[in-house]
Amino acid sequence: MNKPVVLGIETSCDETAVALYRHGEVLAEAVHSQVDIHRYYGGVVPELASRDHAGYLRIVADEVLSGWEGPIDLVCATRGPGLIGGLLVGLTWARSFAFGRQIPFVGVHHLAGHLAAPLVDPLFKMKPPAVALIASGGHTLIYDLPAWGQVRLLGGTRDDAAGECFDKAARMLNLGYPGGPAIQSAASKHVGPAIRLPRPMLKQGIEMSFSGLKTALLTEVNSRSKPLSEESVSELAFALQDAIVDVLVTKLRYALQLTGRDRVIIGGGVAANQPLRDRVEALTREGIEVYVPPRKYCTDNAAMIAAAGSIQFEHFGPDSLDAPAQARWDLQQYWPAS
Ligand code: KG4
Ligand code: ZN
Repeated sequence: MNKPVVLGIETSCDETAVALYRHGEVLAEAVHSQVDIHRYYGGVVPELASRDHAGYLRIVADEVLSGWEGPIDLVCATRGPGLIGGLLVGLTWARSFAFGRQIPFVGVHHLAGHLAAPLVDPLFKMKPPAVALIASGGHTLIYDLPAWGQVRLLGGTRDDAAGECFDKAARMLNLGYPGGPAIQSAASKHVGPAIRLPRPMLKQGIEMSFSGLKTALLTEVNSRSKPLSEESVSELAFALQDAIVDVLVTKLRYALQLTGRDRVIIGGGVAANQPLRDRVEALTREGIEVYVPPRKYCTDNAAMIAAAGSIQFEHFGPDSLDAPAQARWDLQQYWPAS
């Protein structure tokens, strides 16, 4: 099949997203964000998330499909990891669509989607081998990517994910939800010197830990007079962001040295963070080829699911329609390195 038109569906967390994608090109896309529902609780409430996916998926899909008169060659939906209720909504809808129209179906690993996100950029020329960092609300992992369809885990966080650390820190600083963009915005207002928060496990290979950093921030917050001044909030947001970015970039460098690779991909919501993007892009000065997806394709979206599904289909063929949703799922089982 030459350049198939792929329908992608993403419902694993708090975005109901649908896209039509064809080899490096997003033909149409729509997203319904649940941020306003979950903001009140300071995090994603799974039951509310799945009900909202069930209510909106058809509306979002109609918006994408109504303007498309051409064929659809492949249907891809996130099959895991993620919140099981949302996964079931997206999978059930996608499998019914595929069955009704007799189109092949692929269940996609959400993290494979984040790895494939740079492919949706029409200027994208990247080919593995590469080292890949995925930093999101639920995961912080560094992989060796010898080829599309193959990954080898090099290391990851032992406790909190980097995005989770941003979100929890934002709550401590009363900056709201989601925390990453709020911390970035507060940090950008900081001028002058800032307290230095610890960089846990900096010298311990590619393993990471972010829960101690969160505790260090809490200790610092508790030691300051309340309510925190705007300057204090900006300084602490800056210090936290600086520590997280420093750990991620140090670990990426180490992974590059260890593998001898000269290419890097970053993905996941935290890859939308500007200081992280700047620090990773600066690796080009050391002869590393760097692939940083457009910001809107770092956070959850359906185009990346369609892109990963295309790779999956090309390498492994279609899935059966009874492939189950998986709340937990190791990416190395999906794309095993040979
Ligand atoms: O990949 P994603 O959209 O959803 C998951 O699969 O988890 O990532 C969401 C995470 C949240 O923790 C959010 O705070 C973080 O990505 N994030 C950011 C930024 N934008 C989103 N973290 C730091 N800086 C940002 N600009
Ligand atoms: Zn994600």
